[in-house]
Amino acid sequence: WGTLGHETVAWIAQSYVSETTESTVKSILGSTRSDYMANVSTWADSYRYTSSGRWSAPLHYIDANDSPPSSCSVDYSRDCGEAGCSVSAIVNYTSILLDNTSGQALKNDAMKFIIHFIGDIHQPLHDEALDVGGNTINVTYDGEATNLHHIWDTEIVEQLANGAGAQEFAKNLSSAIRAGDYGWDVDSWLNGVSLNDTLSTGTGWASEANAYVCSDVLHAGVDAVEEGGDLSGTYYQAHYDVARVQIARAGYRLGAWLNLIITGRTDG
Ligand code: ADE
Ligand code: ZN
Ligand code: ZN
Repeated sequence: WGTLGHETVAWIAQSYVSETTESTVKSILGSTRSDYMANVSTWADSYRYTSSGRWSAPLHYIDANDSPPSSCSVDYSRDCGEAGCSVSAIVNYTSILLDNTSGQALKNDAMKFIIHFIGDIHQPLHDEALDVGGNTINVTYDGEATNLHHIWDTEIVEQLANGAGAQEFAKNLSSAIRAGDYGWDVDSWLNGVSLNDTLSTGTGWASEANAYVCSDVLHAGVDAVEEGGDLSGTYYQAHYDVARVQIARAGYRLGAWLNLIITGRTDG
């Protein structure tokens, strides 16, 4: 996701963490800010473009080598490369946060990475190898030349927020989560989520998002992509609900995951 997506995920998570979790996260981050999570949610994107942080670029995605649009799947041993992927990153940084012997600097990075990667793993095109996650599929959006990956990271999310900033957009989505709006089965969002098997938890999140590549991202209005049409109209209308549920799930799960790490309970 882009900045608005990551900050929104972080603000949703902030509304689901307990007081104990909040004070522990603030202490790990060395922060007393009210936006303590949102403020660090895009650090990993800045870091990947520095010379000392280049190694971390593959951790932002898992390149499923499946066959969309006819079939979608994630297979950890097939898809997580030597250099790591979003699933191995979630496994690794969760174990660092759970380990009492981890040093402060290591925990600080681990916390920033977890806040970011639980967001990214919910972006369907961060779980897909086809056309480098859609980065090489050129499209236009509102008349601007861009690519399919970028419109899922940014343009669809911005159109959905309709001018709201991250904090306000997150407030709307948090209320929708509490109300079970849009047919969301929120109780099922933590099914299979467990610190006893972080690999299958992360793979489950990646598989769920990757399935949207076949069911949505490359369907319904995607002929506009092939025809070089603009995606801000029919394509947006057909797909904004997927972006919305994935941002909401990411925030809800990030809050629950941090509660689990710090207190052992999803509700903190
Ligand atoms: N680089 C390679 N694959 C990618 C993906 N799926 N998403 C983002 N960047 C990538
Ligand atoms: Zn992206
Ligand atoms: Zn990222």
